[in-house]
Amino acid sequence: MRTLTIESKLWLVFFPLLLGSNAGALARTADEAWLRYPTLSGRASALAHPITIIGKGEILNTAAGELIQGLGESATEVSPGAVLPNHDAFVLGEWQGVGPLLTELDRSRAPSGDGFWLKTVQHKGVKYWVIVGASARGVLYGAFRFLALAAEDKDVSTLDDREIPAAPIRWASQWDNLDGSIERGYGGRSIFFEGAQVRPDLTRVREYARLLASLGINACVINNVNADPRLLKPEAVTSLARVAEVFRPWGVRLAISVDLSSPMSVGGLNTFDPLNPEVAAWWRMAIDRIYQAIPDFAGFVVKADSEGRSGPSQYGRTAAEAANVMARPLAVHDGVMLYRTFVYNHHLDWRDAKADRARAAYDYFHPLDGRFEANVVLQIKYGPIDFQVREPASPLFGAMPHANEAIELQVTQEYTGQQRHLCFLVPMWKEILDFDMHVKGETPVKTIVSGAVWGRPLGGYNAVINVGLDPSWLGSPLAMANLYGYGRLAWNPDLSSEEIVEEWIRLTFGASPKLIATVSRMLLSSWHSYESYTGPLGAGTLTDILGPHYGPGVESSERNGWGQWHRADHQGVGMDRTTETGTGYIGQYSPEVARLYEPPFRCPDNLLLFMHHVPYSFVLHSGKTVIQHIYDSHYAGAEEASTLVDEWSSLEELIDRERYQAVRKRLEYQAGHAMVWRDAVVNWFFKLSGIPDAQNRVGFNPNRIEAEDMKLSGYQPVEVTPSETASGGKAVVCRQEGPCEAVLKYDGKGGRYDIKVQYFDLNNGISRYQLWLGDRLIDSWSADDRLPSNQLNGHTSTRHTIPGVELKPFDSLKIVGYPDGGEPAPLDYVEVIPSAE
Ligand code: GCU
Repeated sequence: MRTLTIESKLWLVFFPLLLGSNAGALARTADEAWLRYPTLSGRASALAHPITIIGKGEILNTAAGELIQGLGESATEVSPGAVLPNHDAFVLGEWQGVGPLLTELDRSRAPSGDGFWLKTVQHKGVKYWVIVGASARGVLYGAFRFLALAAEDKDVSTLDDREIPAAPIRWASQWDNLDGSIERGYGGRSIFFEGAQVRPDLTRVREYARLLASLGINACVINNVNADPRLLKPEAVTSLARVAEVFRPWGVRLAISVDLSSPMSVGGLNTFDPLNPEVAAWWRMAIDRIYQAIPDFAGFVVKADSEGRSGPSQYGRTAAEAANVMARPLAVHDGVMLYRTFVYNHHLDWRDAKADRARAAYDYFHPLDGRFEANVVLQIKYGPIDFQVREPASPLFGAMPHANEAIELQVTQEYTGQQRHLCFLVPMWKEILDFDMHVKGETPVKTIVSGAVWGRPLGGYNAVINVGLDPSWLGSPLAMANLYGYGRLAWNPDLSSEEIVEEWIRLTFGASPKLIATVSRMLLSSWHSYESYTGPLGAGTLTDILGPHYGPGVESSERNGWGQWHRADHQGVGMDRTTETGTGYIGQYSPEVARLYEPPFRCPDNLLLFMHHVPYSFVLHSGKTVIQHIYDSHYAGAEEASTLVDEWSSLEELIDRERYQAVRKRLEYQAGHAMVWRDAVVNWFFKLSGIPDAQNRVGFNPNRIEAEDMKLSGYQPVEVTPSETASGGKAVVCRQEGPCEAVLKYDGKGGRYDIKVQYFDLNNGISRYQLWLGDRLIDSWSADDRLPSNQLNGHTSTRHTIPGVELKPFDSLKIVGYPDGGEPAPLDYVEVIPSAE
């Protein structure tokens, strides 16, 4: 970027052009999410003042550009230099430049790290809005903070806001593959790669960097943890440099995931043994080469000895030896090595009652404490299994006093509804971050990962984000609250979920009290609802763990080596992880925490089945039996999910049409899919336990007519696998050219009814359906969603509702299905429910 040395007159003219590569002058291609400065429009001119930048540099320019974009034209007077203006102004700069000029500023409050200080100062009769950072990055964060405060309608006429981020590592990770697909991504294809290349057009990367910077995120890992070694080839490094260049004005440093076998696969050596000197030399060379092209490169993430990835165990070496061989050459350039502790054997013996995947990270890493280089950070998933809807905090957080730690979170909702379900995760992350590990007095996880507890120099946060080319980034506008919340917590984990939600709503949708109240309620209740209709009591999400991790698949976690067992049998359910009779996992915690979990009667209900195997008749603190809780929570959770549609509809006038419709569609879908979940899980447990539901709901669906019981022509009944994912275990399919028909005679009372057709929408065709009332066509629709399977199962079961249909006794309702491209227009059942009004 050019330097800021031209005369200020000229500068006024050219500044917008100079900022062109990173400021708001260019049209956006995607949703601006919480950076929709139009919400500032009414007040912008009152806030706009000329801007003086003390010092030089492209990040400072970006900060000024953001102010201009937010506050509008009247803020466009920008003058560079080392002199304070003699009129009211924004004064932007690093402490080393601004501090000496403004002696009014209290030296003891100078920001540090990536921190900033927003301060209004009266100086020789004029007023300055000072945005000062310890570094240029801090100035940029301060500018974003100022704009957020203004956009949230806070009083910014007098400022004194000094913020220092909780931890130095505040990273975002993408699991993007070089072919443009994204592992566990639900927002379209990669913004970084396509066809084994870095994309020629990196516009979206720039927009993403802006979003990240606005949250204080200072590095981004752009490729899958299951890393493609080709990224270390010399020619790839040149294209990585292009990405780093786009990130740089936003203070976002580039990082990549690397595969441990690269010295062989890329370097042509015949070993990747981390203790082999040639291997060490190869890493040094590869790392130096990166820094030549990308001097501010942030570092590596490594997944090794995990889920089939190569690792040091192949040579009898440890994770510390593997991490250190890369960490040493990275340290020379101020780079860091994030080594993932997600290391476990996925061929465990499921017959062995003592085998336990949850133990793996602690068993493997705890003995290595003290053996890692100072720039190695252990990246620890929040729970000991794998991003489940509820897990205890990983015991490893409390077990590595001599290592740096970072918590790994997941913004992409792999196990929590894949952005099709609303599941706001901040309350879950807060529970983990606030959980007291009791390792040295009061030591919540957030104080350990910040490095504070053991005085570690590094530590922090890394979340898997997985935005894609979808204009909404994550596939749904409401899912962006998770990205926002992640960034805010990584900056300040003491913020409450309520504060984060309110900020996000104000910035994303506006300040209407009704909107704030409604969307807050929706978001804040959503994790609990999702947990209730999926996997309550800590049993795991109960999803299909061998498939896409989306719909119900209770059985899938059992009888295989992956170790996500819930151990349900005829008598009881849950993993015995006690020290007394179980796997001993609970003994990995401090005695205070172990005491909380060990006896089942003391263990919190929401983790009971994670820690204990109990009979279905075990009575919870709530007074219910385990089995009745499973039934009740699924009915209550699905009911809560169905109310989201009405809550959202009440906001129609307050939200732009595009976002209103996009969210509404997802919420309607979620309401139906929550019932698929409910029915699958309760039926599965009923079948296994044989214990009836005290409220007689399970297996009893009075308004439901099974497709296989209708009069069929062309349609054939089929068994569905797993059976609990279809009502009655069966569906009907049209295997002929089509069309096929299913007819039911309505035998209830006359009146107005909502007709709900449950069908399967596979991803291999677009079947069409018609609903006829007698000889009148009353609706038609297509199975055109892109659900993650080509089979009839819990991933693809979905519903279409035709509201307010007048029915008379003995009316005939006919569904006509037109199959397409391998999708046999499948039908599960029809429900005829009295309309609400
Ligand atoms: C989960 C996820 C994988 C991912 C792995 C990881 O198991 O399903 O796709 O590779 O986590 O975090 O490494």
